[in-house]
Amino acid sequence: MAVDTIPVETLSEEQAKAELQRLAAEIAHHDALYHGKDQPEITDADYDELKRRNDAIEAQFPQLVRTDSPSQRVGAAPAGIFAQVVHARPMLSLDNTFSDEDVQDFVSSVYRFLGQMPDNSIAFTAEPKIDGLSMSLRYESRKLVTAATRGDGTTGENVTANIRTIREIPQELPADAPDIVEVRGEVYMAKSDFMALNAQMEAEGRQTYVNPRNTASGSLRQVDPKVTASRNLRFYAYAWGEMSQMPSDTQWGMVQVFERWGFPVNPLTRRLTSVAEIIGHYSDIGLKRADLDYDIDGVVYKVDRLDLQARLGFRSRSPRWATAHKFPAEQAFTTVEAIDIQVGRTGALTPVARLTPVTVGGVVVTNATLHNADYIEGIGNSGQRIRDEEHDIRIGDTVIVQRAGDVIPQVLDVVLEKRPEGAAKYVFPTKCPVCGSHAVREKNEKTGKLDSVTRCTGGFVCRAQAVEHIKHFVSRNAFDIEGLGTKQVDFFFESEDPALMIRTAPDIFTLKARQDQSLTKLENIEGFGRVSVRKLFEAIDARREIALNRFIFALGIRHVGETTAKLLARSYGSYGAFSEAMQAAGPKFGEAWNELNNIEGIGEVVAASIVEFFKEPRNLEVVQRLLDEVRPLDAEVAVTTGSPVVGKTVVFTGSLERFTRDEAKARAESLGAKVAGSVSKKTDYVVAGPGAGSKLDKARELGVQVMTEDEWLDLIAG
Ligand code: IVH
Repeated sequence: MAVDTIPVETLSEEQAKAELQRLAAEIAHHDALYHGKDQPEITDADYDELKRRNDAIEAQFPQLVRTDSPSQRVGAAPAGIFAQVVHARPMLSLDNTFSDEDVQDFVSSVYRFLGQMPDNSIAFTAEPKIDGLSMSLRYESRKLVTAATRGDGTTGENVTANIRTIREIPQELPADAPDIVEVRGEVYMAKSDFMALNAQMEAEGRQTYVNPRNTASGSLRQVDPKVTASRNLRFYAYAWGEMSQMPSDTQWGMVQVFERWGFPVNPLTRRLTSVAEIIGHYSDIGLKRADLDYDIDGVVYKVDRLDLQARLGFRSRSPRWATAHKFPAEQAFTTVEAIDIQVGRTGALTPVARLTPVTVGGVVVTNATLHNADYIEGIGNSGQRIRDEEHDIRIGDTVIVQRAGDVIPQVLDVVLEKRPEGAAKYVFPTKCPVCGSHAVREKNEKTGKLDSVTRCTGGFVCRAQAVEHIKHFVSRNAFDIEGLGTKQVDFFFESEDPALMIRTAPDIFTLKARQDQSLTKLENIEGFGRVSVRKLFEAIDARREIALNRFIFALGIRHVGETTAKLLARSYGSYGAFSEAMQAAGPKFGEAWNELNNIEGIGEVVAASIVEFFKEPRNLEVVQRLLDEVRPLDAEVAVTTGSPVVGKTVVFTGSLERFTRDEAKARAESLGAKVAGSVSKKTDYVVAGPGAGSKLDKARELGVQVMTEDEWLDLIAG
């Protein structure tokens, strides 16, 4: 009997699992046809029958409910249905802080950045961080015209029709509101409404929802606004986007104006000036948390004065003037069933605890990272004890696991009383479990201490390193090749067929040519098919030209992440110039080496790692084969058009009087200038304040243009 005809009551667990997978895919398919193209293939009754079967199986096997199950989608529309909205101002996220010290650091960093502000003179607002979805509401001539989700921060989804059903959101603003107003805040579902909804679902024998946040999100993404209306969503206003006129010059004042305009604002918002008060308010909110009718996951602090917010500005994704102080993560007890070792791209051996599945904060956890040998032993990165003596992690141990936000779960501690008799200390491997090469802990040259990471010395012979390297190469922020996911990379890597195998990154780009000449056809292999093969080759071809920073990032040089790759691309401009400079920097002294070290944001460890990469003939050979197939595009140096300092290199020296060093640097960089730490022939300007010494001398010697702080300000003012 085919699985899809077996009565629900007689399904085995394994059959149920397969059937839920099939139903999820099939229902999603029909949803897409129905909503997306208005071309249903089956009758409504048949569709309902599929959903009923899905619900019935889930009721029988609640442990098998899939995250992509139709029951969890709240009937929400599939991606791509709503029109896109480009935000007039990006919607940013917040940095997180976890401890009182972090908060002190945040406040100190604000003072340090601004400089010369007397103690306790900067006020901060502190308000709950609502666990919902951020929303941008645009009013033109005082009428609500667009409501958009955050999306990726730049582009969101247009959910205006649904937002109009939320009673708490005004459709119209009072006559004194400016012409263009974008109010931002959080849409959420009250806990009481969530529980009532679930009670109703249960009474109707339907699958219940997981949490208020997901339900709010699903309720908003409805094709039929009537459904949204029935869900009683709510809103708190706390921020803004474009404003044709600012009605206040403080955060606090803005929120009060929003309230006057008819928006709900959170009653637990305070305006405070000392770290002690801020932390006190955080504790208060923490105590009230359980009694609030909405989920919160922390407290947000923002610099109150908007002129100071403007001076502080932004890092790449988050403002310097705000932070989210998160509540402690949720924890649970479970047991360690096994400890496996994973070998990463750089050869690092990472132990992973396989756990008896346990729910932590609404998510089933089965694995937790154990980081390294020291961590298992109970020793932290700086050699300090992180767990009591004897609390090393052993197979069979009962442990406390913690999950904070979306990060990988952690094993916090061992419950010694529950340690099974005879449980042996875990012995960390001294050989790579994949290639058998020695695995060693390197000595840090500077500190003389053992590195915490145990690394496989196999290099290119280690299959784990090679395959992880390819996975990194095709990943989203590197070459981003659609159709080459983890599974496919594993398949091509394992293949012994010369027409199929991909052992190094350049092989990706020769795959099609090898296929064309061969009788083994990818499209005949299970899991591939004609269309997907065509799409894969198209996706590969689309990357034969690639941004320089992505190319550099994709090389997988140790310590070179996305940010460093961008710095390198911006500094050297072309791959040729970059690779030439790195070869020249090889001896780790001289002009090229100094220049590399002078790039702000690149330290000695990173510089050394890049230079080492370019000394290895095997790396050069792989890169050369890659360059035969792929063309890295020259980097655009310009960040801000029209700024007179774009692409210029500037050195600040001596004491500055109008800005702190950090602020001067951030401002210069935001205008497209590079800020260097020392003066060389490549320096364009030296901005010298009182007390300038050797750098000023060097500038004069090299004939570099020297200016005062005021002259610099005149220059950047254009
Ligand atoms: S302010 C530029 N205030 O948290 C700063 N965000 O992690 C804009 N959130 O995407 C955000 N409550 O969805 C701010 N009181 C609050 C918030 C809040 C919840 C969410 C928001 C944002 C995310 C950032």
